[in-house]
Amino acid sequence: MKKAAALAAIEHVQSGWVVGIGTGSTANHFIDALARIKGKIDGAVASSNATAERLKKHGIAVLDLNATGDLPLYVDGADEATRHRHLIKGGGGALTREKIVAAACKKFICIADESKLVDTLGKFPLPVEVVPMARSLVARKIVELGGDPVWRQGFTTDNGNIILDVHNLNILNPVELEGQLDHLTGVVTNGLFARRPADLLLFGGSQGVRSI
Ligand code: 5RP
Repeated sequence: MKKAAALAAIEHVQSGWVVGIGTGSTANHFIDALARIKGKIDGAVASSNATAERLKKHGIAVLDLNATGDLPLYVDGADEATRHRHLIKGGGGALTREKIVAAACKKFICIADESKLVDTLGKFPLPVEVVPMARSLVARKIVELGGDPVWRQGFTTDNGNIILDVHNLNILNPVELEGQLDHLTGVVTNGLFARRPADLLLFGGSQGVRSI
């Protein structure tokens, strides 16, 4: 189902484009499919070191976002998505670079299997990337906001930071919560993608690929 969604996204890639690429198992299907048409594109911008490595293994040029300017297309997976195209991302810990690439793209296509479609975000613990010295401070502030933060021990992001996975949030206003979390001192990014939602969701399912 993930692969079917990834293959559907390939149809949106146009000649001469530099494509932003997400992180995770669904994004990996997209990378593998992109490799088959690599002569068509000018290169890719990676949202993580793992994605950069996979692109390079396929012989796809990995470019620096500082040199490319805005991107015509960004394709990435998600941990949860609603019909409003709001997302939770960051299960793989790449949320900050993913949000940077999303902010720099004209079109953001989210690819996923249909199990990721939810009515309300928050069953999947919300990842928050935090500067290490602020871990306890930010955790206390998150408790005040009604969440239960759990330190993802043994994990360091590509940016040298830690992740707090916030449980037990029933996220009724993702745009507002995204802003509240980003304003906590010590928070680098949170995994809500609501202020800049996806433009198109492609869900692989038993009946084929469904677009929202
Ligand atoms: C990584 C992400 C991924 O897109 C998300 O975790 C989904 O992963 P998968 O495609 O493996 O289900 O946000 O930080």
